[in-house]
Amino acid sequence: MLPADLVSKASIDVHTHIYLPTYVEMLRKRDSVPRVVDRNGQSRLLILPGKDEEDSPDAGRPFGREYFDIGGKIRFMDNHGIAVSVLSLANPWVDFLPPAEAVALSRVFNDDMEAVCAASGGRLRGFGVLPLKAPAAAAEELARISTLRHLRGVIIGTSGAGNGLHDPALDPVWAEAARGGHMVFVHPHYGLGNAAYEGTGHALFLALGFPFETSAAIARLILAGVLDRHSKLKLLVAHAGGTLPYLAGRLDSCVGTERQVDFTLKAAPSEYLKRMYFDSIGYHTPALLALIALVGHERIMFGTDHPFFPPRDATLDLATCLWPSPQENYAAIEGLPAEQQQAILNANARRIMVL
Ligand code: URA
Ligand code: ZN
Repeated sequence: MLPADLVSKASIDVHTHIYLPTYVEMLRKRDSVPRVVDRNGQSRLLILPGKDEEDSPDAGRPFGREYFDIGGKIRFMDNHGIAVSVLSLANPWVDFLPPAEAVALSRVFNDDMEAVCAASGGRLRGFGVLPLKAPAAAAEELARISTLRHLRGVIIGTSGAGNGLHDPALDPVWAEAARGGHMVFVHPHYGLGNAAYEGTGHALFLALGFPFETSAAIARLILAGVLDRHSKLKLLVAHAGGTLPYLAGRLDSCVGTERQVDFTLKAAPSEYLKRMYFDSIGYHTPALLALIALVGHERIMFGTDHPFFPPRDATLDLATCLWPSPQENYAAIEGLPAEQQQAILNANARRIMVL
């Protein structure tokens, strides 16, 4: 249970990341992306796929305390009106590790996440990570996670065991998630259409490549019948559903008229979207209105994506200043009717994430 004074007072953030100290230690020992390097007296985080990420002298992004410091996370929450955060390890989780290493390290990171949340005085809950390249072990780890009192499900990327979330090899994981009622938070990392964004830094990769990746992964999961086989599966889709709320009608129409492939789904694709959960990270009231029109406001939960998208002004003290990105998020929510705002900021997460 949440401490009484936190129950209804402020926002609950279900999309907020941390690089746990054991994870940072692992990234620092690596000599290829993903890694943390020290260049010109500054630590830099190199995680995104692509050659540029490795080669240029100002590659990656400055890697400050905000990425790994729990005290800083709590201060950020205090500064931005957030009572409770459901923390997740940031991308790329354990996706890039060989299966045996991913299995062993997932246990370490999940135990660390539990310990961090348990020590937070009620301010933090967490998502675990899974070694999806080893689906049977991943299903076992998911069952073990349910014994860790402060964890509320898992965060996963879109690569699955290497062949996407529509891969039948993942069925043991979906079966355990559905059986145990564990929330599965689907988050992008790889980008989609990346060749089209050359010369734009991270801007279009994050603005377009991330939501395109999420949209394609979720659409393929639906078309592969995963939700027909595992109807109780609970999915939390990142970034307000990517592009899916806008494209849901087109998805239904194109699937409905397809002649070469018979998807044999029990319902139109958009019907499966209506069973999923979404964060509110759209930065735009009309984007949230499209999501609400599709799934209703009861399935949407506030998120910040902290510590990504820090302010550009390098003279600001990140621990004390207001960050523009969560402010933009709040502003988008403020464009909604009052009872929807309250539900999205707080009540939905308390109910859905059992806080
Ligand atoms: N950039 C990332 O690498 N991850 C996020 O979650 C957001 C921005
Ligand atoms: Zn994120």
